[in-house]
Amino acid sequence: MSIDQLQAETLAAIAAATSPEALEAVRVAAMGKQGSITALLKTLGGMSPDERAVNGPAFNGLRETVTAALAAKKAALDEAALNAKLAAEQQDMTLPVALPAAGSIHPVSQVMDELAEIFADLGFAVADGPEIEDDWHNFSALNIPESHPARAMHDTFYIAQSPPDAKLVLRTHTSPVQIRTMMAQKPPIRIIAPGRVYRSDSDATHTPMFHQIEGLVIDKGITLAHLRWTLETFIKAFFEVDDVVLRFRPSYFPFTEPSVEVDVGYNSKTGKPAGAGQVDKWLEVLGSGMVHPRVIEACGLDPNEWQGFAFGTGVDRLAMLKYGLTDLRAFFDGDIKWLKHNGFSAFDLPSISAGANP
Ligand code: DAH
Repeated sequence: MSIDQLQAETLAAIAAATSPEALEAVRVAAMGKQGSITALLKTLGGMSPDERAVNGPAFNGLRETVTAALAAKKAALDEAALNAKLAAEQQDMTLPVALPAAGSIHPVSQVMDELAEIFADLGFAVADGPEIEDDWHNFSALNIPESHPARAMHDTFYIAQSPPDAKLVLRTHTSPVQIRTMMAQKPPIRIIAPGRVYRSDSDATHTPMFHQIEGLVIDKGITLAHLRWTLETFIKAFFEVDDVVLRFRPSYFPFTEPSVEVDVGYNSKTGKPAGAGQVDKWLEVLGSGMVHPRVIEACGLDPNEWQGFAFGTGVDRLAMLKYGLTDLRAFFDGDIKWLKHNGFSAFDLPSISAGANP
C-alpha cells in the first residue's frame, strides 16, 4: 500500500470514529505496537542510507499528520461528550434551595440563660439539685414541718415507693437547693438555682411541671437593703427598663422572716413593665425575704454569725411577661410552629455588662 493510500485510509477511519473508544481502536491499529504505521516506520531500519533519506521525511510526515488528526478528533469527541452531559444534567438555578431545618432556643431556655448571665455579672454562681427530693430538703429544713398548712399549698406529687426513712417527692420548688448549698459549702454564698419543679395543678396558667429560679445570699451583715438592690438591679436588666418601678409588699413564707413579695409596675397598653408615670397595673413577679434563722440553723450554721436573703420566681412567668406569650400550656406542647414563631436564634444574649465588652 502506498503512503498516500495508508494516510487517506487512516484519516478516513479517524473521521468515521464516533466515540472515544472507536477512536482509540483506530489509534492502536495505526500507531500501536502492531500498528500499520509503526510497521512502516520499522522498515526504515533495513533501508540503505539513500533510500532512508528519501523515505524518512515522508514516513515522519505521515506519522505527524496522523498524530495531529487523532488529537484533533479526540478533542472534538471530548467536547461533544461534555456538551451531551451538560444538556442531560441541566439544572434550574432559579429553583429555591432546600435548606436544612434550623433549630431554635426555647423561650424558657432563653430566659434561664439571660438570668444566669445577669446574675453572673453580680457574682452569683449556678447551683443544682435533684428533681426527686426528700421531704426533709423540700419541706422540713425550710421550716415547713409535717403538719404545716404550707404543705397543702404545694399540691405535692409524692413518690409511692419511697424508702421508709425518707419520704420522696417531686420537688415543689427550687428552695431545697438553698439547703443543699448551705450544707455543702461554707459561706459566703451567692447562688442562683434554675430548674424544673412539679405540682399537681393544670389549667391555662398552671402546668404540672414548670420552671423556677431560686436565689440565695449568705454572708455577714446582710440586710433587706442588699435584697432590695439586688432585685432592682436584676429586674431592670431583665426587662430592659431602666426606670422600672417595683413595689415591695410584706408577705409570708415559712423560710423567710421578714418575707416580701415584689410586684413590677406594668403598662397595660404596651403590655410591658413600665417606668414611673406609665404604671396602671401591678404584677407579682417574685417571693423573697431574709432567710429564717431556723433554716440557717437546720443547715448547721450559726444564725447569729450568718444572715442572708433568698428569692424565688417562676421562669415561665418571667418569659410570658417579657416576651408577651399568653398560654403557659403552649410552652410544653412541643408544637414546632409555636417554637418557630416564639423561639430564639442561638446568638445575641443580652447582658448588663454587654456595653463593656469590646
Ligand atoms: N419557694 C417559693 C414558692 O415556690 C418561692 C420563694 C419565696 C422562694 C420566697 C424563696 C423565697 O427563696 O425567699 O412559692
